[in-house]
Amino acid sequence: MTEPETRRRSLPGFALASHVEQILAGPRPLPIITAGHPVLRIPAEPVDGQLDDALLAELITAMRETMHAAPGVGVAAPQVGIALQLAVLEDSAEVAPEIATARDRRVLPFRTIINPSYEILGDLRADFYEGCLSVPGYQAVVSRGSSVRLQCLDATGNRVDEEITGWAARIVQHETDHLAGILYLDKARTRSLSDNSQYSTYWARPSIEDAREVLGF
Ligand code: NI
Repeated sequence: MTEPETRRRSLPGFALASHVEQILAGPRPLPIITAGHPVLRIPAEPVDGQLDDALLAELITAMRETMHAAPGVGVAAPQVGIALQLAVLEDSAEVAPEIATARDRRVLPFRTIINPSYEILGDLRADFYEGCLSVPGYQAVVSRGSSVRLQCLDATGNRVDEEITGWAARIVQHETDHLAGILYLDKARTRSLSDNSQYSTYWARPSIEDAREVLGF
């Protein structure tokens, strides 16, 4: 059923815009919502005119600041309490060269993805530790597609249809999953779970093979 144009700015849209205004009027960086909060488990709604251009731009700026402050390589809108299909990504790839090489981790310039979807291309998988700002203090191994086709809109509303590979493909999958109410732990090898100190003591290595053998996953 097609909704008439006049219904697009109906009450839910206004309620969402005022919710966003309220969040943006609060502390910066924006507080990150942690696992257990319903907003991380409810599928986010597509961005479709609920926020005017200025408010959307201000939200993106605030999410970018929040990602830098965390620090992280991605923040999805539900992580700041907003159930919209929007995420920001950026990776300066400042890790040891042997880890960067093993993970195919290269600089990912800042970008915004709106209403994203991805499709895993080919059979090649990459199994590595990853973490999430909404599950602070822990990391676990997730098997992800090495290459994805990303379809979304960018911050200016242009259509994007692009093949993304390596660590950036992992970031795209992780952030897009957030918008469907999926946390990385849902897909993780739970026996690999390490808190950050155990991770840096034992498993901050190019390969997960030793972790696989010792932790038994
Ligand atoms: Ni996350």
